[in-house]
Amino acid sequence: MKKNTNYQSDKVTFGEYLSVVRNVRLPGKYWGLTVLYFVLNIAMIPVGLMISTFSAEMIDAQGNLPAAQLAMFVIGYVLFGIISAVSSIFLGIVSERINLGLRGNLWRKIIHTKQCCYDADNGEALVSRVTTDCDYASKLYSTVISLIMTLASSAGYVLSMFALSMKLSVYMLILIPLSIVVGWAYARLMYLIAQKRQAMLSASTTYLIERTQELTLVKTSNSQKQEIERGKELFDAQYKMQLQTGFMNAFYVALQTMFNIISIAIPFAAGAGLVAQGAMTSGEVVAFYAISQSVGMFMTNLINYAGTVKQANGALARVTRTMRLPVEDTKKGENMDIPDADIHFENVVFGYEEKNDVLKGVTCTIPKNKVTALIGVNGSGKSTILKLVERLYEPRKGKIYFGDKDITEFSLQSWRKSFGVVSQGSPLMEGTIRENMCYGCERKVTEEEFAVVAKLSHVEDFVGKLADGYDTMLTAGGENLSGGQRQCVAIARAMMCSPDYLLLDEATSNLDAKRESAVMEALSELMKNRTTVIIAHSLATIRNADHVIMIRDGKVEGAGSPKEILRSSDNYLEKVMNRKGAVC
Ligand SMILES: Nc1ncnc2c1ncn2[C@@H]1O[C@H](COP(=O)(O)OP(=O)(O)OP(=O)(O)O)[C@@H](O)[C@H]1O
Ligand SMILES: [Mg+2]
Repeated sequence: MKKNTNYQSDKVTFGEYLSVVRNVRLPGKYWGLTVLYFVLNIAMIPVGLMISTFSAEMIDAQGNLPAAQLAMFVIGYVLFGIISAVSSIFLGIVSERINLGLRGNLWRKIIHTKQCCYDADNGEALVSRVTTDCDYASKLYSTVISLIMTLASSAGYVLSMFALSMKLSVYMLILIPLSIVVGWAYARLMYLIAQKRQAMLSASTTYLIERTQELTLVKTSNSQKQEIERGKELFDAQYKMQLQTGFMNAFYVALQTMFNIISIAIPFAAGAGLVAQGAMTSGEVVAFYAISQSVGMFMTNLINYAGTVKQANGALARVTRTMRLPVEDTKKGENMDIPDADIHFENVVFGYEEKNDVLKGVTCTIPKNKVTALIGVNGSGKSTILKLVERLYEPRKGKIYFGDKDITEFSLQSWRKSFGVVSQGSPLMEGTIRENMCYGCERKVTEEEFAVVAKLSHVEDFVGKLADGYDTMLTAGGENLSGGQRQCVAIARAMMCSPDYLLLDEATSNLDAKRESAVMEALSELMKNRTTVIIAHSLATIRNADHVIMIRDGKVEGAGSPKEILRSSDNYLEKVMNRKGAVC
């Protein structure tokens, strides 16, 4: 279940926007490019006007323009083309630089964000924040600049329309507000459709990714028919949305054509009258028409820019909301270079969701330099306890101590560095087996060390049979290895950094009996006189522990030596353990 936290829905203030944009820290040269863009485009307004009025001069001069004037026109035309292209490249460069800065900042934020915030968002939403949303958001700057420039050019062109004929200009200007209202309504409608389309696209992409990853489950559950139907429903909805967009576009094109016809008819019909009265020349009517067409084009651009600004604004708001997520300060606090001590939970209450406590007042001690087994039925809260030890979450009530110190007094970086963790499910990264085994190890691993770990973790047992050995590429999640092989790699990774403390969450559950006892033997050798916590349902593992803590429904049901716990005839223990062959 996803939480609906404030950061997703709250309004974003202008100050927040500004700080996100400011944090991009655009280097001075990019501001320079923006200024250059303005200067070049303002300088081009008279050149553009000259080009527009050229046809008028041709008509009035009845085709006999002096060569110098013709040459000027050709130069003006070429200059206009080059400068338009160059200045739009400038703006493109600035926009991409903003995109780069925004992406980098956002990625840094996501990496440092507190774990609890990820529970409220799914991976795909975060991916689209970094990719699509940054793309759109970075266009805000260039679009606003283009919008300002287009307004400035429009003002220049409208002034020259008035200079040519006040009367014709008034007629034409009636069209402008009308076209703006129609254009705005169209842009708004298209924006709403685009939002809906984006949501549909995202839903069908998530569906397709999930189902293609779990095709085996679909086949073995005989769910092909239901899945085909489900896919069809999603595609149908998309198809209808595309048709709607197509109809809207066609309607808008029809409206635009009508406006075009009117905007051609007005200057020529009314202009003819003015020519007859001797108030204008034929050339001036043509010049007026050419300028008014440019103004029309500017209006269309303004409407498009307004649409883009709205879209970019939405994307920037999502980026900004992600930017306000609370982050972990990994550096603050003491170093862990102190003697080993017990880890003590004192009445710890914790829940992933506010009104749903998972740990309901846990008080227990993980003794130093001993192997502690954490046992309990599925969902009782064992992994959650380890996540609190790793400080991925903070208790809502109560405290966790290391010796007599609150664990929050230690810097997160040095705390986590002291722990080797094998999480439940043994997640692996895309990359080679070697990269996965050394992942997170800051120092350089020697070949000898690598070989020892590979042997102890039994990775070498199966790597010898792979064509590329340790350089075999693993797919995301290590899906091209068996469950047991994945666990061996994850155990190797935990061993590689030779941590002071080890947390193993069902780390050997997929290993065959022989390998499990061999890996456990290697681990107990490695962890001799080091604090270790093992979550397991296997009797052998519990028997080898020094201390056992039994969890039941988020509370400590009992704690003591393996003998004390296993001797208990409690029904709960029957549920927790696979007691086959148990001899206590
Ligand atoms: N990220 C999460 N968001 C919300 N609830 C969660 C999350 N992770 C675990 N829970 C809930 O917390 C409870 C305890 O989960 P936990 O993973 O600690 O159980 P466990 O004892 O490790 O079980 P298992 O033996 O199945 O691994 C469960 O009810 C689970 O649904
Ligand atoms: Mg678990």
